[in-house]
Amino acid sequence: MRSVLGFLAVLLALVSAGQALSCIQCVSPRNPSCDGLSVSCLLDNVCGASYTVTTSGFSVVTRNYMRGCVTKNQCNLQGSISVINVMNRFGVSCCNTDNCNPSLPTLPAVNTTFNELVCRTCISADSDWCYTKDTVHCTGDENMCLLQTTSITGAVSMNTALRGCATKSLCDLGQQTAENAGQKVDVRFICTSGTAGLYSGLTLSLVAILLTNII
Ligand SMILES: *[C@@H]1O[C@H](CO)[C@@H](O)[C@H](O)[C@H]1NC(C)=O
Repeated sequence: MRSVLGFLAVLLALVSAGQALSCIQCVSPRNPSCDGLSVSCLLDNVCGASYTVTTSGFSVVTRNYMRGCVTKNQCNLQGSISVINVMNRFGVSCCNTDNCNPSLPTLPAVNTTFNELVCRTCISADSDWCYTKDTVHCTGDENMCLLQTTSITGAVSMNTALRGCATKSLCDLGQQTAENAGQKVDVRFICTSGTAGLYSGLTLSLVAILLTNII
């Protein structure tokens, strides 16, 4: 018993004495291996690279490469989110040595086939809530309706919110927080799988109530 506890204590000591990684932090529209400052990460973070492509219809609006510290649960993340008429596809890759350069992240394939889901869609640039009558018909693997809220606090404070269709991979992130240069960023991914079944079920029962009232 004593030796088991002793072993655990040694393991824990090793974990807490673990060295935090340093990673390059940068953003570039063109260069996947962009250069920037080396920053010190939180203990459980690794170095990550993300690639995001924003499209509207069939034309590419922006491309973005980012490097920095990421939580391990973001490694190999792939997914997409559609808000109003804009789709963001992204991929993340990781490596775990000081200032390493992750391999080029791969994006999910484009699939423009409508699935059964319809989600509310809106954007707010100045609050952590939005809700309108506008809807978007989801495509491909975007099987969830997402409300994403972002709250930035510090020298500059900002809240944003958006609703739209998203892949489940984003929903699984739940909540992500990061702190850098005194700014705290808190992002929440709140999802519902407002399935077509549920949707038409609701409509059906409304129709039933209406019919009952008329009779
Ligand atoms: C594209 O998306 C549709 C709707 O979700 C799905 O039925 C189909 O299998 C997808 N196609 C591919 C190639 O993944």
